[in-house]
Amino acid sequence: MRTHKIAVIPADGIGKEVIAAGLKAMEALQARCGDFAMTFEHFPWGSDYYRAHGRMMDADGLERLKKFDAIYFGAVGDPVIPDSITLWGLRLPICQGFDQYANVRPTRVLPGLTSPLRHVNGPELDWVIVRENSEGEYAGHGGRAHRGFPEEVGTETAVFTRTGVTRIMRFAHKLAASRPRKLLTIVTKSNAQRHGMVMWDEIAAEVGREFPDVTVDKMLVDAMTQRMVLNPASLDTIVATNLHADILSDLAAALAGSLGVGPTGNIDPEGRFPSMFEPIHGSAFDITGKGIANPVATFWTGAMMLDHLGEHAAAKRLMTAVELITRDPANHTPDLGGNASTAKVTDAVCEAIRSSN
Ligand code: NAI
Ligand code: MG
Repeated sequence: MRTHKIAVIPADGIGKEVIAAGLKAMEALQARCGDFAMTFEHFPWGSDYYRAHGRMMDADGLERLKKFDAIYFGAVGDPVIPDSITLWGLRLPICQGFDQYANVRPTRVLPGLTSPLRHVNGPELDWVIVRENSEGEYAGHGGRAHRGFPEEVGTETAVFTRTGVTRIMRFAHKLAASRPRKLLTIVTKSNAQRHGMVMWDEIAAEVGREFPDVTVDKMLVDAMTQRMVLNPASLDTIVATNLHADILSDLAAALAGSLGVGPTGNIDPEGRFPSMFEPIHGSAFDITGKGIANPVATFWTGAMMLDHLGEHAAAKRLMTAVELITRDPANHTPDLGGNASTAKVTDAVCEAIRSSN
């Protein structure tokens, strides 16, 4: 039997609630499919761990995670501990330490969900955003000087490397080529940023020549926001820098109906290290402990994880179950305008998996 070793890091806030839900769906799937097994090892890292031990994760954390096939991650962030400690102490060290340079974010309007765009009711919006996840504006380059004085200065330097841009462009072209429309939009800002972004455009054009069957167009990031709203059907696969894609993918999630349904994979395409799968939302302090967090993003990211592990049949079975239950408004959590609990949606998905053929 095929066995996959999964590291589970629920971390903070609703991360704990949605990962518990996701694991139930994974167990139902294993029982229903019967041809693969997953072992789960839980890591208690996060803000509570920080309160107790003064660190977000153990010093040998990355070393211990290395032996897993994938990481199933909840969300990190705490109302009183700064994000510079929480995010930079757990999520970012994993992304950077494991060189998960491609952040993949599919967006669709699931059956039964309502997009805030009145001309969209499903098929018009079916995108995958590829976010450069290792450098760019979030490279961490910069500094502060003369703190507290009137002449204080802070810099935040975006870093683009030929290696980094080439590999993300190649990944995005390959992904676009694997989708029916073979359509890739390169997001840029080379009109105003004339060094790194111009290099970004040039490398995109070079890599594009390796993929003659992919149709490529180029959009400035500001105009891109308009196009996503006014003409969503004109887009399919999208590649953007770390910052641009961060912003565009929150817009994408909102256009698909809720932040609570958006999944993501932080992928090391070379497979040297485990990739990490998580819902795109954060720890949502405002609803933590209320039992109403939407687990759909976590189910969907679980399907991405299964695909990554080669369990395509199980991934499809899981998404079919999700798309079956979202059709019924009784399974919509409050973020989708309903009043279902996390537990109710989870039970519905597990039942749909058990009775799937
Ligand atoms: P957030 O995503 O936690 O919440 C934004 C809004 O969406 C809130 O009103 C929340 O209730 C709602 N929401 C999010 N996920 C939901 C779900 N599954 N079901 C129902 N409603 C949901 O973003 P926010 O409030 O900006 O950040 C809270 C903390 O999370 C911060 O510390 C932030 O840095 C962190 N964060 C962590 C991320 C990660 O771990 N990858 C990603 C985004 C934020
Ligand atoms: Mg974000």
